[in-house]
Amino acid sequence: MRFFIDTANVDDIRKANDMGIICGVTTNPSLIAKEGRDFNEVIKEITEIVDGPISGEVKATTTDAEGMIAEGREIAKIHPNMVVKIPMTVEGLKAVKVLSKEGIKTNVTLIFTANQALLAARAGATYVSPFLGRLDDISTDGLPLIRQIVEMFEVAGIDTQIICASVRHPIHVTECALAGADIATVPYKVLEQMTKHPLTDAGIEKFQKDYKAVFGDK
Ligand code: E4P
Repeated sequence: MRFFIDTANVDDIRKANDMGIICGVTTNPSLIAKEGRDFNEVIKEITEIVDGPISGEVKATTTDAEGMIAEGREIAKIHPNMVVKIPMTVEGLKAVKVLSKEGIKTNVTLIFTANQALLAARAGATYVSPFLGRLDDISTDGLPLIRQIVEMFEVAGIDTQIICASVRHPIHVTECALAGADIATVPYKVLEQMTKHPLTDAGIEKFQKDYKAVFGDK
């Protein structure tokens, strides 16, 4: 399983990219709004940091296929790595069909059932984004959804890639990897949490103490 970072914050994207662990970025209207910056400006900056798929979502206020298609074409023009993120609706599927026929990559978002993922794949989506954390938020285990989509795509020989989204903690990441997801899109905070273990910190401290006891600061 590969990692994307789920943010529009360029400082966090730079930090994760410097660690060599991410190969793509996902954003959404809430993440863009959080930065309070112009969509095109922030997306362009992201494409200069990460050389991999960058998902930019159509405006939250655009709900018709024609509008999403027009916006999708503009998003695709920003950079060859752009992926147009489209919500899972009937209108969204129509937009995916048209954009994918034009060779524009799409990421169908807000997936909460395996059937939604199957429909998105059949419409031509490059990626589907099932949301784990938001299912957990309503006391529903999100992991069976990931397992079902993985199995369904395998059985049907579908090559649409599965991005585990709405990842909230390191256990989600382990579970998604074991379930066979292609990608997890992870906030910087969770990527950082994944680097940590108290025994790692204690080990470093002990190595430093033992070394210094014999060699000082040399
Ligand atoms: C995915 O692409 C979404 O941007 C994201 O993972 C949503 O996460 P949230 O449910 O934590 O907002």
